[in-house]
Parts: sequence; structure tokens; C-alpha cells
Amino acid sequence: MCGIIAAASNRNVGKLLVQGLHKMEYRGYDSAGIALHQDDGIAHLRTLGKVQLLEEKMISEKPKSKLGIAHTRWATHGEPSETNAHPHKSQDSIYIVHNGIIENYVQLKEDLKQSGYEFLSQTDSELIAHLLDHYINQGQSMVEAMYAAKEKLEGAYAIAAIDIKDNTNLVIARNKSPLLIGIGADEMFAASDPLAIAQQTNDFIFLEDGDVAEISANTYKIFDKSKKEVVREITRINISAEATSKGEYRHYMEKEIYEQPEAVSNTIDGRIGGEDVLDNIFGLGSSDLFSKVRRIQIVACGTSLHAGRVAANWFSSIAELPCQIDYASEYRYRNPHVDEKSLLVTISQSGETADTLAALNYAKEKDYLSTLTICNVPTSSLARESDFSFFTNAGPEIGVASTKAFTTQLAALMLLALSLAKSRNLNPKLRGRVVQALRLLPETIAEALNSKDQMTEIAPDIANKDNALFLGRGIFYPIAKEGALKLKEISYIHAEAYPAGELKHGPLALIDENMPVIALAPESEIAEKLISNLEEVKARGGTLYVCADPSVNMDVKSGKLIHMPECDFFMSPIVYNIPLQILSYEVALLRGTDIDQPRNLAKSVTVE
Ligand code: F6R
Repeated sequence: MCGIIAAASNRNVGKLLVQGLHKMEYRGYDSAGIALHQDDGIAHLRTLGKVQLLEEKMISEKPKSKLGIAHTRWATHGEPSETNAHPHKSQDSIYIVHNGIIENYVQLKEDLKQSGYEFLSQTDSELIAHLLDHYINQGQSMVEAMYAAKEKLEGAYAIAAIDIKDNTNLVIARNKSPLLIGIGADEMFAASDPLAIAQQTNDFIFLEDGDVAEISANTYKIFDKSKKEVVREITRINISAEATSKGEYRHYMEKEIYEQPEAVSNTIDGRIGGEDVLDNIFGLGSSDLFSKVRRIQIVACGTSLHAGRVAANWFSSIAELPCQIDYASEYRYRNPHVDEKSLLVTISQSGETADTLAALNYAKEKDYLSTLTICNVPTSSLARESDFSFFTNAGPEIGVASTKAFTTQLAALMLLALSLAKSRNLNPKLRGRVVQALRLLPETIAEALNSKDQMTEIAPDIANKDNALFLGRGIFYPIAKEGALKLKEISYIHAEAYPAGELKHGPLALIDENMPVIALAPESEIAEKLISNLEEVKARGGTLYVCADPSVNMDVKSGKLIHMPECDFFMSPIVYNIPLQILSYEVALLRGTDIDQPRNLAKSVTVE
């Protein structure tokens, strides 16, 4: 998964291409590069590391150009290095950028070597440049060459290409990797994400799989998979500059944590009324469809999967429906049993996660009643390919570690549990109670954000350790897992989560003074049992940090008891997650890690 951007304009485009790369660094940031068409050839600049380094190189070399392509990389084939950075070239003539994976690259590379092409990088992408060169040398235009290359390529790709002999046009192609055209005034763009060009235009065309397009400053032509010229709809999206900047915060992650009350308001706004959830909020006809649902299947990855694990409890207790959950990367390979009254639900912030998309495509061949996606990006592939879509309206999430996306997914999943219950005529009183609690949720989250001072106090104790253990029971176990994931990914501290009752079955052996234990103790029917589990930790010298209901009182010795705001039990997983996000952030700050762009990760994982 990488980010690509291209521009054809009547003004210089170097600076705006690099600005666009900055906006897409969430897609990968191990190296970056640019190819700019100039009067005397192509300026080809590449750097190992973040886009900032490419920007510095651009400032010192000052290339000027009105046509160019650029790329920010997350390595799949070949280590991060300047040689493996895009754009790749063929014969100093054809330059390409690519996002995705070419699955049959070994064979294609061998064939091209036989034809005399020399490979300079270890990537799968370089062969695309050689393939295009090969067909152009046979007298084909760039568009024809792109179609010929597409016939050879297997896998996922978004490609942009320029030819040294043509200083007016660039050609792009899409198959299973996001790609769009941005229409400006006397200029045109292409990019993996509208964010990259939001400062230049609000008018976008989302290409479909199989499309090839030719773009110049004043015009564009789109051809579909059968090479027929087509007109695709223009979508107007207004992404405000404020939504994509850090504002007064030090990191996007910090900003995204503190904007959660507003984000959740945006998720529930217009979706509940009086004592109940409104009809058809998951799409026209969804309320009727939900009355037929007898089983839920969730597929998702990472944080989004944790949201699904919490929701499985709600589906059972509010909508009285069983729910099966799978890692999207595993689901297809276990030969899942499908009955025709099952609803398939995908959960994803980006809507572009390759494993989740592949799982959806697999599921569409099976006998599901219908498919629904809960996601944050309305223009995403998951949204386009699902029967029903529900948008969390969290606004752009730029920090790689998911925070507001998770919280809003939980709010959306609660609305789903309520909608299913309503369509099935179940538990009206409980629905009324939960709707009321949802209304108060933004306020309760704002109160939970006040735990910042306590988390800042604890952070040094965790920051100087190598490991941490997170404990929760029942619906709080997935929240403990999410807490551990957040700490791992941004502070690089090894963290594990366990259902607290499992401690005595093995992990207790790990407990000593070097193992901080972070536990979640809401008011619940198993609170007493949880407290006994925590006593076991204390007795072995472990330091306890307990987020607890105001009614819970226990001696945590040298640790800390953090009282959470009072809230309805159904909302408590959402509320108790907040201090864990803050804790990870404060620990990572102390450890001086790259919080918004942790090593080896990228926000949108568009490879399987
Ligand atoms: C962790 C995180 C990831 C994502 C996962 C799925 O903080 O963000 O675990 O949740 O890569 O991504 P989406 O939700 O975009 O499908």
C-alpha cells in the first residue's frame, strides 16, 4: 500500500505533488519519489525515508514542470531504499508509479529479462515501466500500451505513467486499488485519495476496476475495461483544511483522541429520535431486511475487529442474534458455513483494507442474505461494493493508530444492534434506555478525557518497562485487547491482553515488579470476581493500574485507581477505552516514538 499522485497543469506542479504526498503519508512512508517532465528531459528524484526528505531535495534542486507523477511507499517487494523507491523507469523514457501488488511478477520479470530489459530494483512495480516501453516500441500509444500491459498483469494496481516523448498527457489505470481523477481549473490530477488533492479541487471521479484514463491539463478521457470511452459521475467532496490539519495539537493522534465527543455526535446525529433508533438508517429497505436476519457474520482487521468483538455482545443481548467474528485475513480459508439468513458485516475505517475487501468479495459469492459495511470513507471500495453502507462520519483520521474511528465504529455498531432489535420487535424498553445513554455518550466521553492528568502521571511507570498486561472480562476483554494493540503500535512496548479469569491458567507466571498490569473494572455482575483476579496480581508484586467504576474501591498499593465517569453499562466499553488511548499516547510521547507514523506500519493496508 502506497500513495500515488499525478498532475497535468498550466502551472508548476512539483510543490503541489509533494504536498499531496504529505497528505498520503498515512499510506506508507518508507521512501518517496517524483518524476517531472521538463524541457530537457525528466527530473527523477527519490529519497529513502519520509516525504520531508524528498521535499528538501526538491528545494535544493528546484525542478520546474507542468506534468508529473509522485509516490510515497510502504515496502512490499524489496527493502525500503532509494533504488526501490518509485517512480520506476524504463530506458530513461517511461516513468511509472504504482500502488498494489503484481502477483505474477516473477514470471513477467523473467520474460522481460529475456527480451533484454535490465532491472534496477527488487520491486514488482518496475516491470510495469518495462512492459509499457515494450508495447510503445511496437508503435502503440500509451493508452494502448496500458491495455496491453493490463492483459499481462495479475493482482491489484493503481498506476500513473508518463512518457518522455509526450509533455502533455499522463495515463492512469486502476484494478482493485483506489484511484481517482481530480478536476481543477485548467489542471487535472490523479491520486489514491481525495485528501491528496483536496486543496486543489472538490470535484472527483472515482475510477472503476479495469478503467484506463488519459489526462492533460484541460481534458481527460476515461475508457472502461472493454476499451470503450465512458462518462463517469463527478462527485463533489468538501474536505476542509481544518479537518486535515493538526491545529493546536502535537500529533494527529492527539487531535483525534480529543475530538471524539464531536465525532460520536456526528455518528449518532439524525439517526435516533425519541426513545428509539430511526428506521432505515442503514440504507433504504434495511429495516425490512433486518427483520429477516437470524445470524451476523463480522469480518474486519485490527482495531475494527475489536469493535466487532464488542458488538457481538450487543447483538446477543439487545437483538438476540448470534454473531460469528473472523479476522478478514482468515475468513476465506476456513470454509465458513453460511446460512441464507445471515447478514455479513464488514467494519473498516478506510474501506480499502485488502483483506476485508477480499473477504467481502468471497462472501458475495455465498448465500448471505445481504452485505453491510460500517466505514468512515463514503467513497471507499467497501462502500461501493456492499449492498448497504453506514458511514461513521468521524472525519478524516490521519494518525496511523485508530482512535476516533474505533469509538465511532462502536457507536455505529450499537445503532446496528438497536436497529436489528427494532426490526425484530424486541426489547423496546431496553432500546429506549440505550438510546438515552447514546445521547449522553459525547458528554460522557468528554468527561472520560479528563483522565488525562492521571494517565500522564502513570505514563512514566509504563514507559520504562518492556512489557505490559491488559486485563478485562466479558465485553471489556476486546477493550483490553485494543488497549494492548494501541500501546504496542505507537510505543513499541510488548503488550498482551487477557480475560482476567484466564490469568491463573498461565500468564500469572509473568507477573513481577516489571510487569505493569492495566485492568478495567466497570460495575458489573462479575466485578467481584475481577477484583479477586486483581488481588492475585497484587500478591505476586505486579503493579496495578485500574480504571474502575466510582463504586469500586480497592487498595492498589503503589499502583493507581482511576475512577471513570458513571455511565450506562452498555456504553462503558466505549468510555473505558478512552483512558487507554490517552495512556498509549502519553507513553509514546515519553519514549519519543513517531506517534502518527509508527515504524513498519501504514494506515490503509491495501495488500493482502
Ligand atoms: C490499529 C489500526 C489497524 C486498523 C486495521 C484495519 O490502530 O488502525 O489495526 O484497524 O489495519 O484498518 P481499517 O479499519 O481501515 O480496515
